[in-house]
Formats: sequence, C-alpha cells, structure tokens
Amino acid sequence: MKLPSLTIGGLSLSSPLVLAPMAGVTNHSMRVLCKRLGGCGLVSSEMFSACAIRFRDPKTPGMVDWTYEDQPLSAQLFGGDGETCAIAAVYLQEQGADIIDINFGCPVPKVARSGSGASILKELSRAEEIIRRVRSVCRVPLTVKTRLGWYTGQPTVFEFVRIASDCGADAVTVHGRYAQQKYAGTADWDMIARVREQMDSRIPLIANGDVTDPASFEKIIRITGCQGVMIGRGALGRPWIFRDLMAFARTGAAPEPLKAPEILEIARMHNRILKDIHGDRRAAKEMRGNIIHYIKGFENSARIRNAIMQTRSTEEIEEVLNEADRFCKSGIVVQKQSL
Ligand SMILES: Cc1cc2nc3c(=O)[nH]c(=O)nc-3n(C[C@H](O)[C@H](O)[C@H](O)COP(=O)(O)O)c2cc1C
Repeated sequence: MKLPSLTIGGLSLSSPLVLAPMAGVTNHSMRVLCKRLGGCGLVSSEMFSACAIRFRDPKTPGMVDWTYEDQPLSAQLFGGDGETCAIAAVYLQEQGADIIDINFGCPVPKVARSGSGASILKELSRAEEIIRRVRSVCRVPLTVKTRLGWYTGQPTVFEFVRIASDCGADAVTVHGRYAQQKYAGTADWDMIARVREQMDSRIPLIANGDVTDPASFEKIIRITGCQGVMIGRGALGRPWIFRDLMAFARTGAAPEPLKAPEILEIARMHNRILKDIHGDRRAAKEMRGNIIHYIKGFENSARIRNAIMQTRSTEEIEEVLNEADRFCKSGIVVQKQSL
C-alpha cells in the first residue's frame, strides 16, 4: 500500500499514525508505551480545560506530564471562548507541547454544556473566534479536531474546515461521526473523503474513526485520501497497533496476532512504566483499569480479571501476570478484539 506522509506546520512526523487524545487513557504511561513499541508518529495528551488553566486549577500542572520520551506531542485543549483558549495555548506551548490541538468534537455533556467541544459546531462563528485568537498567539503548529457536525445528518464539517483553514490551522482531524451519534454506527469515511476533496490541499487531513486493523487502515487511506490516520480505541490494550500497521504498510502482510504471553509481556511493561512514573499506589490503581483491555479475548480472562482486582500493588499485579503467563504458555492466540 502507498503510505501517506504527514507534516504539520513544518513538523515532519516519522509516521502518519497518530495516537488519539483520550481522556483517562492517553496519559504519559500510555504515550511512552506506544512510542517505545514503535510506529506512532505523534501522540496526543488528554484534554486540558482552558478554563482550568486560565484560573490556575491546581490539578493542571500534574497533567503536564510529557518528557522527551513521548514527543513529538500534541497537547489538546477545550474551551468556549478565544481569550481563555489563547491563554491556555500559551501555557501549553511554554510547557513544551510541540503542537496545540483544539477540541471541537467532544460530545460529553460536561464539556458540551459548558459551551465547548462539539457544541461549538452549532455556532461556527465561535469556532472562528477561537481558532483566530489561538492562532495569533501560537508559535507551534496549531491543529483542530472535529466531528461531521452536531446534528446527525446535518454536516457542518465543510464550513468548519473552511473556517479552520482561513484562520490558519495547520491540520484538521475529522472523526467521521456526528456528535449526536456519540459512538453509535460506523464512522463515515466517504464523508471524510468529501471533506478532503473540498479542503485546501496544502493542509493535511487526519482521518479518524474505527481503524482497528490492517484492513481498516488500508481502506481509510484509500477512501479518504488523508495524510494521517488517528487511532483511539484500537490502541486500548493494543499499544503495538502502530508498529503492526507500519509493518503491514512496509511489507503488505498483516503481522501475526500476538500470542497471550507476548501480550502479557507488554502489560508487564506498562505496569513498570506506570510504577516508574507514579509510584506504586497510583500505578496499581491505573493498571487495574488497563488490564481489562489487555486480556480481552483471552480464554481465561475472567480468572485473570478477578485475581487482578484483589491486588494492591504493582508487584502483586506482576505476580498475577506471571501466573497468567504460565497458564497461557501453551500459546493461546488472541482473537481480533472488537471495539
Ligand atoms: C475513552 C475515550 C476518551 C476520549 N477522550 C477524548 C478527548 O479527550 N478529546 C478528543 O478529542 N477525543 C476524545 N475521544 C475520542 C477519540 O479521540 C476518537 O476521536 C474516537 O474514539 C474515534 O476514534 P476511534 O474509532 O479510533 O476510537 C475519546 C475517546 C475515548 C474512547
């Protein structure tokens, strides 16, 4: 397959694959893991509230958790007005973010009701004000992430992309669903293709939604003509997906699915990265949440999950993973995970 190349505002990425921003997921440990396993050109932070940054919420500095190991990094912010978003963008770029991304796609009530995220798609003049204002202060590349529109069947994405381009955005990510759909149905890649056809060809388009394996990766590029592909849920419990997709692009052959012991080894790696970053207590708590994704599809997943829920430390988690490993050494091949 012909692999596109992705350059965002002069920043040339090693791969067109982007780890999607996911609240509660794409923290430092997940980003480092994806980078270490390979194939991921750009990682995204969890979303920052522009308001929280502006009014100095004490939780914000703890979220600025990137290092050289998870860069280049795109820091995402959400907010409802240009002034607040601009203050947040300046803060994030001062903290070393390589790219600033503005969220115009989040349909979650807490975000949408505050007049941010996808709710701005109902009133595009506000999108214009925000992008223009942030652009005026942003020295690093600026990107925007959006959906097809708010109301199902009423696409505002064409107008949105025109505005983003006029206001100087360096790339646009489109998740091929409407906000009202949340995650229902399938992502409409034909619609993303229409966006690509109509938008300024100098600005890269990153296509997003439902890419989980080599076939969907190949298809989204072929259909949409995008320059980059963003992956969210497909990386949950499968941070090696970027490496596999790049291997597929190089060789044309889909890599063998990982066997259970190999997956458990990556889960152990995740456990150790978490411990190094957060210390034992917080790492164990986070890892208990992650395990469920890793063992999805295992024959003995219920048993492993129950044992993990009893653990109190990363050491105990490692022991459970070792025990599961012994049980799995027969080499159960994990089935393709569904979203
Ligand atoms: C747990 C979770 C958290 C998410 N958080 C964010 C977020 O903070 N900002 C954002 O723009 N999108 C967020 N998304 C949406 C993803 O970035 C992505 O657009 C969506 O999941 C579709 O891509 P996928 O089919 O590859 O998962 C989130 C998705 C999930 C599943």
